[in-house]
Formats: sequence, C-alpha cells, structure tokens
Amino acid sequence: MSAERPALLGRAPDRGSAGWATAVAHPNIALIKYWGKRDEHLILPRVDSLSMTLDLFPTTTRVRLDHEAGHDEVTLNGRPAKGEKLRRVVAFLDLVRKRAGLTSKAVVASENTVPTGAGLASSASGFAALAVAAAAAHGLDLDATALSRLARRGSGSAARSLFGGFAVWHAGTDSGTAEQADLGSYAEPVAVGDIDPALVIAVVDAGPKTTPSRAAMRRTVETSPLYEPWAVSSGDDLAQMRAALRAGDFETVGEIAERNALGMHATMLAARPAVRYLSPATLTVLDRVLLLREDGVPAYATMDAGPNVKVLCRRADADRVAEAVREAAPAGSVLVASQGPGARLLPGSG
Ligand code: ADP
Ligand code: DP6
Ligand code: CO
Repeated sequence: MSAERPALLGRAPDRGSAGWATAVAHPNIALIKYWGKRDEHLILPRVDSLSMTLDLFPTTTRVRLDHEAGHDEVTLNGRPAKGEKLRRVVAFLDLVRKRAGLTSKAVVASENTVPTGAGLASSASGFAALAVAAAAAHGLDLDATALSRLARRGSGSAARSLFGGFAVWHAGTDSGTAEQADLGSYAEPVAVGDIDPALVIAVVDAGPKTTPSRAAMRRTVETSPLYEPWAVSSGDDLAQMRAALRAGDFETVGEIAERNALGMHATMLAARPAVRYLSPATLTVLDRVLLLREDGVPAYATMDAGPNVKVLCRRADADRVAEAVREAAPAGSVLVASQGPGARLLPGSG
C-alpha cells in the first residue's frame, strides 16, 4: 500500500477466519533514531523516532495454527530458530494468543532478504511481517495503528515498518495506566514535501553484530553520561526534521539526520563498557560522503546498530553517490533504495 493510504489490509480475503496467513514487510531506516527504552516489557521508547521504509529487502512470514502441536515451531531462513531468536517469536505469539483468546501453537516460517542482525533493520521487517501474519492467522481484526502497537512489542523499530514512505513513532507518555501507555505508543505516516529521497546502502559487513540492539541500548541508557543530553536534543531534532520534511528542504533533512545518528553513536561510545558498531570501513565511507558534499552533492550518512552506512541523497544523485561509495568500500556491496510500501497481508491467507 502507498504512503498516502496506510490503512492496512483493507478487506483482506481471510478476514476473521483463523488459520493461516502470509505477510510481507520491508525494513525501515530511521533519520531520527530510536535508542533507549523506558519500559523493556512493553517496549516503550525514551524518544520519538522517524524513518523511511525501504523498497528493498522484504521479509516474508507465514503463520499457521496447529491445534495438535505441543509447542511453537519457528524457522528463520529455512533453519529452526533456537535460543533468543525463538524466545522472542514465542513471546510475541503468546501475546497474540492472549488477545485472540486462543491457545493453539503455531508454525512460523520467515524468510529475510536482508542480512539478519547486521544493523540493516531485520528486526523491523521481521516483526512487522510477523505482526500482520500472526494477527490474521488468529482472526484478530486490527487496524494499522493497532498492528503498529503490536509489532512494537516484537521489536520497537518494527512499529514503523507497518507504514510505507516516512513514518513517525510516538514514544507516548506515562501519565496513566500501563494500558494507556501502551495505547499511546504507535507509528503513523508522515507527509513529506518534494524531496524525492534515496538511501544508498553500503553493506560493508553483512555479518551479525556481536551486541544485539536490545542489549546495546540498555547498556547505553544505564551507563552513558551522554545519553540524557542526546535524548533531549533528539526531541529538537525531530521537531526541526518534521518542519524540513514538510518544507521539502532536503539539505536540512540530511544535516539533521546525520547529526542525530552521530549523536546516537556518541552515546554508545560513552557507555561503560563502550558499544562501538562503527568500523574502519564505516569511517572510510563517511569521509567519502563529506567529499561528495564538498563537490556540491547533497549526501548525508546515517548508521544504526552495525557498521553499514546508509547515505541519504536525492534520487537524481543516487547513481553518482552509489559509485563514489563503491569506490570507498570496494569489498562491500552497495544498493540504492527508494521509499517502499507498508506491511501487507498476501491474498489467499485463511
Ligand atoms: P537488526 O539490526 O537486524 O534489526 P537486531 O539486533 O535489532 O538486528 O535484531 C536481530 C534479531 O531480530 C534476530 O536475532 C532475531 O531475534 C530477530 N529477527 C530478525 N529477523 C526476524 C524474522 N524475520 N522473524 C523473527 N525474528 C526476526
Ligand atoms: C539503531 O528496534 O532493533 O536501528 O526494540 O530492542 O528490538 P528492539 O531494538 P531495535 O532498535 C533499533 C535501533 C536503531 C535505530 C532505529 O531503528 O530507530
Ligand atoms: Co533491529
């Protein structure tokens, strides 16, 4: 579905009939980062965040209820999920079962086309696809906002992958009950002016990170003296980002995105012990991005919980930017992403 029409699922053919469902979702890359939780159980973030959903790297997830099974069976990229990977999916299914008032175990098969755990947002596409497929398989009739809240419980960043194009994820407030806090934290689409953005993605290392995002942000909040100042300034960054997006002011959008990301990495570097995702290859790409700007090409870098770099530029400049990044990181692979669609159920589920 398009960024303009986020209403998920419409009248899906399988609405209401519990059984099985298949969904597709794409990763999203934050221009204003989510880093830090205020509630680990509900996955309530410390800060608002804002992202662009990609048209690359879809995750496809199929969920089938199995009345006979004694436990959930989960495969990820064709291999049985174990340990923490399995635990996260089972915990998510428990939540869906509770809401649906069902007890059947499920068979889940998910295929990522994005490298898993590499800082390229596999948890976002993964849990957005799982939320849509699991809700449908359990006969839950949820709108896009409710699906965004649900996806959040699997991985915070997944709340934003429900939507195509640009999305903002509201942190919400803690003034009421836990239920009210849960209701207040969801993503929604953001209308943007005429910026025609691309993200040139430099995959300098597709391997899994040694410190998962969840543990890294926990340590940062608990130990980094730079965390609080960054969280405060991130609120200002978001307000300015929204104004720049509305105005179609590409350079300002890029400048804010780059400073927000570098600030987030500064909070991690100041954690005890430090969390460092940036590698020499990351810094080489960052140097190349600076040179591009000196040459008059508006290009701005953002990095997540991994060494890979996403360079925000205009689509008209994307080939030139991709070429420059390829030269800077010859051992990696470089792809060009545009704005992609929100999560959707595949027809025929039921
Ligand atoms: P990333 O940078 O890829 O988002 P994270 O550390 O945030 O890395 O999350 C990686 C974890 O997300 C995996 O170890 C796994 O637990 C979960 N994950 C990734 N893809 C899927 C998927 N398709 N289905 C279910 N869980 C997934
Ligand atoms: C740096 O959503 O992966 O990519 O909620 O613990 O699953 P959990 O973390 P996750 O964190 C993403 C952090 C980030 C920034 C962002 O996507 O906003
Ligand atoms: Co993630």
